[in-house]
Amino acid sequence: MDTPSFRAMGHRMVDLIADYWDDVESMPVLSKVAPGDILAALPASAPRCGEFDPAHPDAFWNALAADIDRVIMPGLTHWHHPRFFAYFSANISGPSVLADMLCAGLGVQGMLWATSPACTELEQRMLDWLGEAIGLPEQFLFRAGAGGGGVIAGTASESTLVSMLAARARAHAASPAAELVAYASDQAHSSVVKAAMIAGIASSASDTMHVRRIAVDAQCRLRVDELERAMQADLAAGRLPFFIAATVGTTGVTAVDPVRDVCLAGARLPVRPWVHVDAAHSGAACVCPEMRWMLDGVDLVDSFCFNPHKWLLVNFDCGCLWVADRRPLLDALSITPEYLRNAASDSGSVVDYRDWQVPLGRRFRSLKLWFVMRAYGLDGLRAYVREHLRLAELLESLIRSDDRFEVVSPRTVNLVVFRLRGGGDVANRAMMDAVNASGRAYLTHTTLPATHPVAPGAVVLRAAVSGALTREPHVRDLWETLRSHATLRA
Ligand SMILES: Cc1ncc(COP(=O)(O)O)c(C=O)c1O
Repeated sequence: MDTPSFRAMGHRMVDLIADYWDDVESMPVLSKVAPGDILAALPASAPRCGEFDPAHPDAFWNALAADIDRVIMPGLTHWHHPRFFAYFSANISGPSVLADMLCAGLGVQGMLWATSPACTELEQRMLDWLGEAIGLPEQFLFRAGAGGGGVIAGTASESTLVSMLAARARAHAASPAAELVAYASDQAHSSVVKAAMIAGIASSASDTMHVRRIAVDAQCRLRVDELERAMQADLAAGRLPFFIAATVGTTGVTAVDPVRDVCLAGARLPVRPWVHVDAAHSGAACVCPEMRWMLDGVDLVDSFCFNPHKWLLVNFDCGCLWVADRRPLLDALSITPEYLRNAASDSGSVVDYRDWQVPLGRRFRSLKLWFVMRAYGLDGLRAYVREHLRLAELLESLIRSDDRFEVVSPRTVNLVVFRLRGGGDVANRAMMDAVNASGRAYLTHTTLPATHPVAPGAVVLRAAVSGALTREPHVRDLWETLRSHATLRA
């Protein structure tokens, strides 16, 4: 494809995306296709002859555009629909998409400083900008020169894995033969257990001897007394507590673990375990100073991650990880074959991000942070988050105003967790399915822990208010949709 054709088609692609954003509200939120429908619409094998003919570029574009409409669009669940309230969001924005285009077009690999210095140094500066913006202590920033710093990973799962590998390296350096045990609340994300499986700590997903799932309190926060009891029991049995994952914003109900008390409990052990904070979703709220109560104790942790790609207007993928001390990370992940050696790396004066992650190659993802932070500024990002907090509060008050419903868990950020009082799990699932099938909105559910004081083990519904296009009328519309389905079920 020559550059004139690329240029012409690129303009049309930007039009297609902008039209999609303008029109998405008129589409049903949830895809209605059946399993296999998309497969059936696609040829079984790749075309033998190329379809692009430089003499007729329009023909190729027209064929692609028709197939996007016919095959792809019906199979989309519209994550950027203003009435998408499921899971946690995966935000996008104009500046971020433009940056992603530039990243693709420049096509650099930032595995070493030397393979594109701008890729590494922009990332270092952006992780400092962002770390400062959410109120991380100085030791996590490059500018402090204390050995800490941040890196862009694909996802929070990768950040947790990399942190656990660093923790394992640190523990094994001190006690090479120790049998290691990790700890997280029973509400922590499954990525903690998965990391332990990949790191060879846990033999399977059900290996609770090597990943202790700690009980939570009435607000779904990790119980530090239970954590201490479990760690002491493991020590007494000759095992070594080496890693604690504290969650700031659990997936189920956005509960915030008591990070400071978790760290203090770790510090009371003969060998201090690594403490990692998983703030995948809720960390974004800390751009607002009034939300930084969630970070109390973060000055004591070893690593911290959150995903700007969830709730901070940056396209997937952009998961950010900060460490207070990079040495254990490098001990865990650094390996230098001859073909990667170069003068800059040998000098020790540059960051080679390949040593901070599992893969070698890496994209120029910091462009997305740069474009987004420059476009909105910190004030703009704060206003964005605060508006979602306001809308979530509004939704919560609407739900509380109708006694057929109850809010079952305290709201910490932008997630409202609620249920129909009557009819139990069956009625709640049926209402959610009906709302989702209507195409008007999309919600997902979770179950509360068996020890929950209001609704033990119950199926509850979650509405995460964090869509970039979501405004007050969409939240009110969700409420009307819920009410009308509750009436049908009464
Ligand atoms: C608390 C928490 N941690 C980790 C994850 C996993 O995120 P990722 O897809 O970035 O690995 C999620 C996903 O929602 C989450 O809520």
